[in-house]
Amino acid sequence: MPNRVLTRRVGARACAILGLLLAGAVVAGAAGATEDSARNQLAQKDCVRGKFKDYHLQGTGGDPAASYKGRVFRLSQDYPNQIPPREDFPWAKIPFKDGGPVDPEAYLRALLAYGLEGNVDVDFYVEDNKIRKWYGMPWMDWNTEVASDWPGTDGREFVHGFTHEFDSSGNTLSTLQHDFVDTWSGAYLNDRAAFGVGQVYCDPDNPKPGALNPDPAGLNDFPDGAFIIKLLFSTVTEDQLPIAKNALEWQAHVFVNDDPSWRNKGPASRFERALGPIRLIQIDVSVRDERSLTGWLLGTFGYDGNAKGATPWERMVPFGLQWGNNPKVTFAQTCAGPDGPCDRSKLTEQWINEEAAENLTRAPLNFNHLGFGGRLAGPVDNAKASCMGCHQTAGFPTVPILPEFSANGAVLKLDAGKRPATDQSFRMMYYGNVPSGVVFSDSQLQSSDYSLQLSMSLQNYASRRCGDQSEPSSAPAPEICGQLLA
Ligand code: HEC
Repeated sequence: MPNRVLTRRVGARACAILGLLLAGAVVAGAAGATEDSARNQLAQKDCVRGKFKDYHLQGTGGDPAASYKGRVFRLSQDYPNQIPPREDFPWAKIPFKDGGPVDPEAYLRALLAYGLEGNVDVDFYVEDNKIRKWYGMPWMDWNTEVASDWPGTDGREFVHGFTHEFDSSGNTLSTLQHDFVDTWSGAYLNDRAAFGVGQVYCDPDNPKPGALNPDPAGLNDFPDGAFIIKLLFSTVTEDQLPIAKNALEWQAHVFVNDDPSWRNKGPASRFERALGPIRLIQIDVSVRDERSLTGWLLGTFGYDGNAKGATPWERMVPFGLQWGNNPKVTFAQTCAGPDGPCDRSKLTEQWINEEAAENLTRAPLNFNHLGFGGRLAGPVDNAKASCMGCHQTAGFPTVPILPEFSANGAVLKLDAGKRPATDQSFRMMYYGNVPSGVVFSDSQLQSSDYSLQLSMSLQNYASRRCGDQSEPSSAPAPEICGQLLA
């Protein structure tokens, strides 16, 4: 384990634990993991449920018109107060070697099968799943991800509860895509993940970011077996992206104008929404598995209309799986120049479906890159990012998820003279292997353990309940407001 790197990043609580670990205990990914029994014993049990809004501006002008006869999204928020017992997870049968699965493709496919089981039949209105319970993240109805000057406008729409994410500018997906297309997505948590979220939000008016693991002696992590699946839809059409043919198409309440540069200039009326079609082009999965080098594995599937399979779900092609960032492998060691080509053989902490990767570069597809230096990222993701690079930053408060978003590193309390564009060490910090439950930056109080929805949820909460912009509330000021000030 890279202790040097680790000590630089951990916060006060984690430091104490690290001290214990270094004092002789085993230093490994799974060290210090809290047993289910301890989590259950220390869990808060008198939690208040059912208080979170379902969608953007619910009850305050955002409700469906009376003429809308379709189904309306309800947040599945009856989080369990005790950890549901570990199932016989299909991925758990696949052995690990050196912190990664020996058969990554089989592992990745097992994750998708689990995430789809019982959810496809009910169009991901997951509360109807007949096989197992699934849940959603609170506070995504008021979400600020893309339009920072227009707080909340990325919040859940009312048909499927999808949030608006970073859009793809012209030419990102194919040379036939000339204009912006918008991304809308939804994430669903299994019961073991939902237990952690339910502990953080046990008191809906006073969330505790550090209660993800109820045991204060353990790292602030999700329990082993926590799993999240995310569906990414795009407003892209088959004309703009030929492999999107026969993709799964749903109606959602999305922006009338697809161009974020136009919308962001305001006024707020530019964020007008209406029912319109969106198509499923990517599925992401993440799982907490203590056998992994970092404690997590993240994987992705891309839609290919030419692939075999009777349904759009079956035409989702496994693209790659990541369990570490190979922190020591620099850009120059893998890529010949800014536009490649990149030799990914040094990146041993991931698996890429080479055939799928090659298909994506075939004209008119324009996806000639993965993430930074050949690390795994999805087609709608930023080419300078990687799945684990972005996700390891998850924590409270939030920090920039990419070096580009941090003007000079000040937010991360790094040397202000360091520039992300030129400083290799600064950028490589984003491709470290932060262990599960450990904070990324010294400016963070708690880790959100690789869940960016959890860290954004807390941020969204704070933006509405702390400070000048707060909505009126009769509840006393939440503790996290004071923590943010301090
Ligand atoms: C540029 C940064 C970035 C990259 C790269 C990225 N993600 Fe994410 N991801 C996010 C953000 C931000 C969210 C939370 C917002 C949302 O879901 O609406 C998120 C949410 C998710 C979720 C929902 C669970 C959660 O709370 O984190 C999953 C699963 C996920 N991503 C998997 C992946 C996978 C797999 C990859 C690589 C193929 C990936 N992500 C690449 C930023 C990123």
